[in-house]
Amino acid sequence: MNDPITIKERLVDLKKLISEHNYHYYVLDNPLISDAEFDKIFLEIKAIEDLNPELITIDSPTQRVGGEPNKSFKQITHQRPMLSLGNAFDEKDLDVFDKRIREELGVANISYVAEPKFDGLAVTIVYVDGELHLAATRGDGSVGEDVTHNIKTIKSIPLKLPSNSPAGQIEIRGEVIMLKNDFIGLNKRQLEANEKVFANPRNAAAGSLRQLDPTIAASRPLSFYAYSIFCDNKTLASQEEGLDLLKQLLIPTSNLTKRVDGVRGMIDFYNAINNARKSLPFDIDGVVYKVNSLNMQDELGFVSRAPRWAIAHKFAAEEAMTTIKDINVQVGRTGSITPVARLMPVVVAGVTVTNATLHNEDELRRKDIHIGDFVMVRRAGDVVPEVIKVVHEKRPNDIKKFEMPTLCPECSNVLVREEGESVLRCNAGMLCPAQRKQSIMHFASRKAMDIDGLGEKIIDQLIESSLVLSVSDLYTVKTEKLLKLDRFAKKSAENLIESIEKSKKTTLGKFIYALGIRNVGEATAYDLAKQFGSIDKIMSASKESLLSIHDIGPTVATSIQNYFNEDTNREQVAILLKEGIQWDSIEVGAEEISNELEGLVFVLTGTLTSLKRDEAKNLILSCGGKVSGSVSKKTDYVIAGLDAGSKLDKASALGVKVIGEDELIQLTKKG
Ligand code: IVH
Repeated sequence: MNDPITIKERLVDLKKLISEHNYHYYVLDNPLISDAEFDKIFLEIKAIEDLNPELITIDSPTQRVGGEPNKSFKQITHQRPMLSLGNAFDEKDLDVFDKRIREELGVANISYVAEPKFDGLAVTIVYVDGELHLAATRGDGSVGEDVTHNIKTIKSIPLKLPSNSPAGQIEIRGEVIMLKNDFIGLNKRQLEANEKVFANPRNAAAGSLRQLDPTIAASRPLSFYAYSIFCDNKTLASQEEGLDLLKQLLIPTSNLTKRVDGVRGMIDFYNAINNARKSLPFDIDGVVYKVNSLNMQDELGFVSRAPRWAIAHKFAAEEAMTTIKDINVQVGRTGSITPVARLMPVVVAGVTVTNATLHNEDELRRKDIHIGDFVMVRRAGDVVPEVIKVVHEKRPNDIKKFEMPTLCPECSNVLVREEGESVLRCNAGMLCPAQRKQSIMHFASRKAMDIDGLGEKIIDQLIESSLVLSVSDLYTVKTEKLLKLDRFAKKSAENLIESIEKSKKTTLGKFIYALGIRNVGEATAYDLAKQFGSIDKIMSASKESLLSIHDIGPTVATSIQNYFNEDTNREQVAILLKEGIQWDSIEVGAEEISNELEGLVFVLTGTLTSLKRDEAKNLILSCGGKVSGSVSKKTDYVIAGLDAGSKLDKASALGVKVIGEDELIQLTKKG
């Protein structure tokens, strides 16, 4: 095992591998493997070199930063190298990092600045006497590409600095990224124009910045966040001072950044950011800690590839490569047929993934997905894992094309594709066992009737034993019948009956949501409840009166009418009411009802800190207000959390009032 020839050969192989992946990642913007797999190869090289320093060569990836610069751009030699960062994956790595620094400096405690690690493209922007002079990508760390023409199209980057800024040259470094919402919008437009869609916001940002034609870059929604500054004529004492100066110069910086002390402080920051990650407007792949004092930074210096005063604390990977064993379809609650990839199990962000959604047939064809393909799978938070793309370079010869079925796999009904729809559908409704089961699950779910203890397994049992065939049957089940089922004891049976009984007292909004009308989510259900005030009025509402509700368009209005035009659905409602379902209030909970926000329209943006998004939304709804997704002239208030993005700009452009969470809570208490 320790044979030096074997190790040397291994090192040669690993270096070759890294250089291939570097090329795909940095030059082609088309990674073949996930960041985590790349990091693993890199770490193995590093480990071998640490043990055998005589094997380090100048072509080692540990001796340089990134890939080759793209030849078709003018090359720019950086005045100071653009470095990379070492990685930490756990508390132990942070301990080692912090201890080394403390020992080297002979200091007991170190203050760090903790920042989000943006997942985009590093750029440097040089201002001379206040004017944007030059912008370049990182390239290989020493020589980058001139992207001044494209950087100038990013509106958040000033072309001129405020007149009181330091004279001479100022170099600013940061990350060009694409906000998650902008990315979704861009891909939608690309799709409509039959253009390439991007796998993730990072690739979209990189692909947009590396355009020779600035008009293309200008049409792409890019953002920029700065994290370092160097001034010819101003001495700075700390990273914090640098960030303050950037703010003064009106350069975008992240307001998630925080000063922290020691390893404890780092971990608290990491956990807080990790929790907020899903609701941040942009992707981050970890956090960065930097020694705050610039004197200390100078003293610590650099190793070949990275500063010794900073480290990146990476999140567990959210993307991984695996193969598709098979593809089959799932029938959704409203009959939609979704193709699902059955995968070779793979760990993504700490969770083993075996299935991933392929959305619909068009999506599957567009991504050219076949059974047997190698694919990249993404899992973001608790969202259903999805296949992002095929790794064509690894495509085997024996792949198999997947054909969508023509009959429902659950009930053999003929599937239809309605006009203007991208999904196939089984219209058998409650006659289809899959739709029956999912409707009951939805009905019982927390945001609907909230029947505690009624999970998927019990619903399966209830259906199999024919005790429950429709949602209204839930209210006729008796304890004695439950006792005949597997795994039910007296106590558990009584508890379930009690939960079912308790659910009878609800709100009109929750009841409408629970019915599972196609295209009627929670917010629309509350809107209907509030507008009409009674189930009878909703059931007989005219199209015009439905359309008069904010946020209800023709598709939703038609779905509502179609639902109540079905005799079986009207019967279900009648039986449920006869069984004793009732509400005192039309919206959330009677105790929460007030009308302080009556008639006001709110838009939520950024990361809220004291309330969760859902809580803020419910608070507004329960006080008679409305929540909208986009800022318009009709918006009364924008509630801005941390790092609020473009919605704030829109609010200020339209003169819409911007307030914080605390002020929102104050508003609800007024009067
Ligand atoms: S500091 C000398 N701060 O991460 C210090 N980098 O792996 C190097 N990045 O090239 C940069 N967010 O593209 C720094 N808050 C942040 C960052 C950050 C993202 C990227 C940057 C850099 C790479 C290093």
